[in-house]
Amino acid sequence: MLKLKENVSLKKYNSFGIEVFTEKFFLLTKISQLKELFTQFQKESIRVHGGGSNMLLTKDYDGITLVIANKGISVLNETETSVLVSVQAGENWHEFVLWCLKHNYGGVENLALIPGSVGASPIQNIGAYGVELKSVFHSCEVFEIENKSFKTLSNEECLFRYRDSIFKKKSKGKYIITSVCFQLQKPPHQLQIGYGDIKNQLTGKQHSIQEVAKAVISIRQSKLPDPKEIGNSGSFFKNPILSKSHYETLIKIHPELPNYPTPEGAVKIPAAWLIEKMGFKGIREGDAGVHPQQALVLVNYKNATGDQILELARKIQKAAEEKFNIKLETEVNIL
Ligand code: EPU
Repeated sequence: MLKLKENVSLKKYNSFGIEVFTEKFFLLTKISQLKELFTQFQKESIRVHGGGSNMLLTKDYDGITLVIANKGISVLNETETSVLVSVQAGENWHEFVLWCLKHNYGGVENLALIPGSVGASPIQNIGAYGVELKSVFHSCEVFEIENKSFKTLSNEECLFRYRDSIFKKKSKGKYIITSVCFQLQKPPHQLQIGYGDIKNQLTGKQHSIQEVAKAVISIRQSKLPDPKEIGNSGSFFKNPILSKSHYETLIKIHPELPNYPTPEGAVKIPAAWLIEKMGFKGIREGDAGVHPQQALVLVNYKNATGDQILELARKIQKAAEEKFNIKLETEVNIL
């Protein structure tokens, strides 16, 4: 019989640092315990947490909070040019990136310093500085809750898109990711250094993955607040993708609007630009605020509640709709 803790604060399990309580709590370190847990507590609601860095908690949870904390990294296969590495879901993402840099395995260096766990990384297909998880993702092991069995999902089966995957759409709540298998380059040969900010940081012609990671870390540290100091969940909203005609209407009024055409003929624009333009950058309402260096990041200066952050987010969404006719979708999960 598994023994669960009761009435536990989730403050240290979410990067926004919001104080809410869960009725019951279980820290899972052995994957074999999953079957036991879901059998013993069949009738109760169970909510899964990874690193807690992409969620806004707004209320106490009347059920079991399950934190996935299994650890371990192992090399499954190695050739002259690539390596297949299996990483347990509870490993910290950035620690894994550091492990790759130490072994000189290429592919995740642009994703340095993204908060969260490895098991959560496929859910929103994490991405930064021109690289998305899907470019290194080989497959993942999942626990299928309904029939309490394990299976493997391939890259294609996960249906990765911009900040999106099968885990957020048709299979939402169906699986628990228990480990992720990555295909990395050995030695690193394809660096992605085209992103403006990275280009500006690098000097000389030949670069290593360690130098790229160093540049990424320095850019992130200069713009993004460290959740250990100021609570936040990274980008709060997704960058909106506009139809060509919607974009053309806007660019006539705002010729300086930054834009990134998508392969499908639409145009992605930075939500941060819209938020700054509307005058929200750096504002503070009580302990809820918009970060002064990155308008896409909402912050908890100390004791904000989830509802106070959410109220600020709703205000921004309403203004974007009125001023630009754009619906800003949240990137973080509101719970
Ligand atoms: N900008 C502003 N005001 C700001 C910040 C940015 O106008 O306060 C404009 C600038 O024109 C800038 C552009 O927005 O050139 C893009 O900004 P940035 O490069 O900082 O990236 P982003 O689009 O705001 C996305 C990701 C980040 C990722 C960066 C870098 C999303 C939702 N966010 O942000 O991901 O680190 O690109 O690749 O796609 C996250 O998902 O949590 C996250 C931090």
